[in-house]
This record gives sequence, C-alpha cells and structure tokens, in this order.
Amino acid sequence: MNQLNHNQRDLGQNGREQWATKIGFMLAAMGSAVGLGNIWRFSYVAGENGGAAFLLIYIAMIIMIGVPIMMAEFSIGRKAQSDAVGSFQNLSPGKPWVAAGFLGVASAFIILSFYGVVAGWTLKYFTGYLTGTLWSEPSGGYVDYFVGFIGSPLEPLIWQFIFMGATIGIVLLGIKKGIEKANVILMPTLAILLIILGIYSLTLGGASEGLAFLFSPDWSILSEPSIYLAALGQAFFSLSLGMGALITYGSYLSKKERLPGATAGIASMDTIFAIIAGVVIFPAVFAFGAEPDSGAGLVFFTLPAIFDEMALGGIVGLAFFFLLAAAGLSSAISLLEVAVAYFIRKFGWTRKKTALIIGGLIFLLGVPSSLSNGPFSEFILFDRVFMDNMEFLSDIFLPLGGLIIALFVGWGWKKTEALQASDFGNSTIGAVWLFILKFIAPVAIFLVFLFALGVL
Ligand code: PFF
Repeated sequence: MNQLNHNQRDLGQNGREQWATKIGFMLAAMGSAVGLGNIWRFSYVAGENGGAAFLLIYIAMIIMIGVPIMMAEFSIGRKAQSDAVGSFQNLSPGKPWVAAGFLGVASAFIILSFYGVVAGWTLKYFTGYLTGTLWSEPSGGYVDYFVGFIGSPLEPLIWQFIFMGATIGIVLLGIKKGIEKANVILMPTLAILLIILGIYSLTLGGASEGLAFLFSPDWSILSEPSIYLAALGQAFFSLSLGMGALITYGSYLSKKERLPGATAGIASMDTIFAIIAGVVIFPAVFAFGAEPDSGAGLVFFTLPAIFDEMALGGIVGLAFFFLLAAAGLSSAISLLEVAVAYFIRKFGWTRKKTALIIGGLIFLLGVPSSLSNGPFSEFILFDRVFMDNMEFLSDIFLPLGGLIIALFVGWGWKKTEALQASDFGNSTIGAVWLFILKFIAPVAIFLVFLFALGVL
C-alpha cells in the first residue's frame, strides 16, 4: 500500500513523473543550462570573436531573445505536460508548429553527439589529475599533450563511451531519483570552485590584459557579420534553448510554481557562470602567452598551466575537471531526456530501453566527431572538420527552433492562454513578453541569419 501511494505521488495526476521540489526543478534547469557551454564553449567562442564586444552582444541576445524564449518553453511544457513534440501537438493539433519539436529532437542527437566527445576529454583530464600525470607539465607542454590526446583514434572514444554510459544511467533512473538528485549536489559546488579560481586568476600577471580583453570592447569587430550568429548560437546553446529541453523539463513541473521568477534566476545564473569562467580563463591566457583565439582546446591547455603554477594546483585541477565533467553530465542528461521523452511516448518503450537505444545511437553519431580531430582530420566540408560542422549546425538549429517557438507563442497560441500559462496574467510585463515573441525575437533571429549568410 505504501509502495502504491509512493508511486502515485511520483507520477502526479496525469501519470507522468514530476519534480519533487521547486528547488529541485530550478537546480535541474540550471544544471541543464550550466555546462561545458559556459566554460569550454563560451571561452573559446568569445576568444575567437574578439572578447568584450562579443560579450556585449551575447548579453543583449540573452536579455532580448533568450529570456523571453525560455519563458515560452517553460510555459509550453508545463501547460501541455508532454515532450518537445507532443507539447505542440497537444496545444495546437494539426498545425505546423510541431516542426520545432522535431527540430529539437534532431538537435538533441546532433549536440549530444559532440558534447559527449568534449565531456569525454574532461574525464580524461580528471583522471590525469587523479593519477598525478597532469600535476606537472607533460614533456611536450600542455598544448601538445591535448592535441596528441584528442588526435589519437581510440582513447577519446573510450572516454566518450564512459561519459555517455553515465548519462544514460542517470536518464534511465528517471526524473527524481536520477536527474534531480545529481544536480542538487553538483551545482553549488561548481559555483564555489569557479569563484575561487576567478580570484586566483586575478592575481596572475596577465590579469589586466585578460580583463581588458573581456570587458573593454574593440568596436571594430561589430562589422564582422559572423559575430552575431556566434553570439546568438552561443546564447541559445548556453541557456539550453530552442530545442525543447526546457519544454521537456517544464512538463515535469506542477501548476503551483511561478515561472517568471524561476526563468530570471536560471538565466542570470547561467550568464554569471559564463562571465566568471571568462574571468578565470582570459587572465590565464595572457599570463601564459597563449592566444585567446586558439579554438576549442583553450580551457584544456590554459587551465592546466594555471594549476601548474598554483600551490596545491593538482588538487584544484582535480576538483575543477571533476566539476566540469559533472556540469557536462547535468547538461547531457537534459539533452538525452529530450529525445528519450519523445521516443518513450512515441513507441511506448520503457524508459530503460529507450535511454539505452537512443543513447547508444547518439554515441555512434559522435564517433566521427571524435575521429575528426585525428584520423578523419583530412575530411573537410565547408572548410570545417566533422565535429565543427556539428557545432555549426547547432548554431543554426537552436535559433531556428527558437524562432518557431517564439512565433508559436506570439501568433499561434491564444493570447489569454499564453499569458495564463506563463503566470504573467494581465500584467504589463506579460504584454511586453508577447510583443517580444511576436516581433522582436523573430525579426532579430531572422536578421542574424541573413547577416551571417551575407545577404545583408
Ligand atoms: N546548456 C548546455 C551548456 O551550456 O553546456 C548545453 C545544452 C544543454 C544545450 C541542453 C542545449 C540543451 F538542450
């Protein structure tokens, strides 16, 4: 009897699982948002796009486009109580808006395929600190060590496999016991460690140059069309937007919670994490004579160089790469959950079977990404290796998904229903929100696309 009650409570009224607590939901959504995107991707994309000017555009995109679309995703998911595809079918049956859901499931495959590769690298570094290999500079230096490692055919695949195994393991445990539990512990610890590292980095010789790079804009870069797409893509990537991850997480939420406050908290936390990561990384880049635009390996050779100089740096490196891997894991589970929630409903498979099959397929899709840093590095399409093409696709798919989501809430959903679903009700801010979704966000996304294509 107890068991029965327990199960009923677990499943909520409509037979779907729900978050146990509001803070559990907040932390899980933050766990989805805060990940490799804030530290690994933010630092290298900002580094390649001029630093401070990029940061400004990035923040503008978050406020003007990201936050309203995050509200839209939570509202859709909580109202419809279904996955990324099913939510559109519930709210607007027979209409083409569901394209956003399918695009989202496709994006989950694409993003997690290369995300698993990079997260695998973090595991390798974690064990490097655990065994002591990385406590002092490897013979050829940290750059060669990194390039040699990601270029080897087999080893990165093994780490990717382990990481994907952990992701699948948590997703198959379900919402409360798996996803929620993992996040409650990991997020606060990562925040504290990052702040300590930021303070340390500011004491390094490169601090003023690093801070100038991050905070004092070189406006000439604004004439570069690609910077806008890079900032928009990064805003979506970092906030986990545009692919239904937050629709799916919103669908495990009960009607009691208030969405606007949660959204503001999640988006600001995510942005603060990225900025602090910049404060950690750029001073170190300049202090150790690296170039900010050295690409996807940036954190993997600048940070070990800082740890090398620090007292007890080995322990800090250990903690840092553990937490980076963990932050990657809490994001990866939300990526996998988008696809898993959809296929559970679609095929009626068990959660376990679905997580194993879909996670396995995504691992396989990631194999060419991993190999593209080594044996497949000669296969260049559109000037990019396979992994960079997958990343580039996410820069397009996420804003495109976000565009459809904004248009759906702005134009396809009844105004009163959208306002009620968002908890904005009749307030002015609700009207502003709808206005942004109707006009500003779609036009801005559209212009960024045209600009990047060279049409403007
Ligand atoms: N937001 C995650 C990060 O910054 O690492 C990545 C991500 C997770 C993107 C979930 C999209 C998503 F749906």
